[in-house]
Amino acid sequence: MRWLTINLKKHDVLIVGAGLSGLRVAIELAGDFDVAVLTKVHPLRSHSVAAQGGINAALGADDSYEQHAFDTVKGSDYLADQDAVELLTQAAPRAVIENERWGTAFSRTEDGRIAQRPFGGAMYPRTCYAADRTGHNLLHTTFEQALRVGVKFYNEWFVTSLVRAGEAVCGLTALDIATGEIHGFVGKTVVIATGGFGRVYSHSTNALINTGDGCALAFRIGTPLKDMEFVQFHPTTLYGSSILMSEGARGEGGYLVNSQGERFMQKYAPEKMELAPRDIVARAIKTEINEGRGINDEYVHLDLRHLGREKILERLPGIREIAMYFAGVDPIDEPIPIRPGQHYSMGGIHCNKYGMTPITGLFAVGETACMSVHGANRLGGNSLLETLVFGRLVGQKVAETLPTLQEPDSTCVDSEAFNMRERLQLLMLKETGESYSEIREVLGTTMDNLVGVFRKEEDLTAALKMIRELKARFKNVYGGPTDKAFNYSLIRLLELENMLDLAEVITMGALMRRESRGAHWRLDYPERDDTNFLKHSLFTKIKDYVKTEFIPVNLGIFEVKERTY
Ligand code: FUM
Repeated sequence: MRWLTINLKKHDVLIVGAGLSGLRVAIELAGDFDVAVLTKVHPLRSHSVAAQGGINAALGADDSYEQHAFDTVKGSDYLADQDAVELLTQAAPRAVIENERWGTAFSRTEDGRIAQRPFGGAMYPRTCYAADRTGHNLLHTTFEQALRVGVKFYNEWFVTSLVRAGEAVCGLTALDIATGEIHGFVGKTVVIATGGFGRVYSHSTNALINTGDGCALAFRIGTPLKDMEFVQFHPTTLYGSSILMSEGARGEGGYLVNSQGERFMQKYAPEKMELAPRDIVARAIKTEINEGRGINDEYVHLDLRHLGREKILERLPGIREIAMYFAGVDPIDEPIPIRPGQHYSMGGIHCNKYGMTPITGLFAVGETACMSVHGANRLGGNSLLETLVFGRLVGQKVAETLPTLQEPDSTCVDSEAFNMRERLQLLMLKETGESYSEIREVLGTTMDNLVGVFRKEEDLTAALKMIRELKARFKNVYGGPTDKAFNYSLIRLLELENMLDLAEVITMGALMRRESRGAHWRLDYPERDDTNFLKHSLFTKIKDYVKTEFIPVNLGIFEVKERTY
């Protein structure tokens, strides 16, 4: 088994990831620049396809982008950068209407407008939806547009490293999964759009592909990560499989009920009830279970029966199918067993509101980026929005920046490709060693059990110790089959390496933030502490050491207040 020396490929813009963010950047640039998208799965299998409940935009006559911005900042527990939030909410109606004109089949009101449902933490029903398959609809439409404008795709290519020369990015290396060959790609700009890293946890709504590859690769070349401790736990994931049971189900009027038949949200958020922000609802459910009011001590019920057959079939057909296939429960007749599970990563690659990182030519967008529009807790419906709004804006910024950048250094890319071939060859030739599956399993359960909805010093310290032990074991990991073509064992190994790095930083952040804010809840520091922690955390890899610091939050539009719902 040998790797070949292969000519370098060259494009102006290299976009890593073909979910909604990556596609929207590509559409903005195609035609004017030579744009290539590299993606480890076919674009229509990107995780954007799984987004259910909807996309927020202040379209209603009584709503406004300012109100949307306020809800987002309050929902973020005041950690969001307010200028970035304003940009997001102001551009929201345009993003939704653009996609509708491209062909997205949004659900409709009686008089033909785009239908909007209430979502958690929002003052108005501003979540536009296509039944409970909104991401599916948006992704298909956006992919069609990318094909229309002639974007070049490298489908089923796994990016193995980013290449930096001095202060600038100059390309990347990638494994062509079908052939097993490593290629060097030279580019003046690289846009990371690889989504979240929820698979660091075992119980997650995320697709198996969400392993944070872009985030880890950017971290390894010295790009700081930001606010990594803020992990969103979605309140309603299906018991057993952790598949998302959309917030849209509560938006349509669904109840949360404990083992005593009580709508317990009355105790935790008497005004907003089931439609309080996710961090609050997730903690409420976990508290009910921990205090013995769960069903079989494991879950509570999401009850939709009172909505009636017709509404469930029209608005929540996907939820019904999933509950039937994966839990054997028809929500028309029975309540759905649910519990909180990892759902979204508020933290990510440190960048400004146009996706620019401190590395020249390196941009980030979507869930992998931290701009930060979600702060300590994201509102449902703002994630699909972020992909389309910032996809366009980052594309514009890349277009503006490209003419100012120097020709990238292709020799660096060439030598990195050579080194990567050697490295992977050694990894695959190993015949014994630590078991991949054991390391992965322990990582997931450690994160679930010790870095979850409720956190405390001793658990976090134990988790960090365990993650570092796993990292040490990974150095001696055994790769499995040695075939070059479609070697998914090798891909899983590289993904695990990425997740181990991210898990370490998440846990470091959770340890150093000695307060409770948004989704980060410390049982030993249960108060929000604005004096010491109304700040973003920042993590920079310097050789084998991670430098940690805090940097200011952009405030100034909305006053920082207590959060009540
Ligand atoms: O519950 C949901 O449908 C998820 C929406 C979101 O995360 O924005």
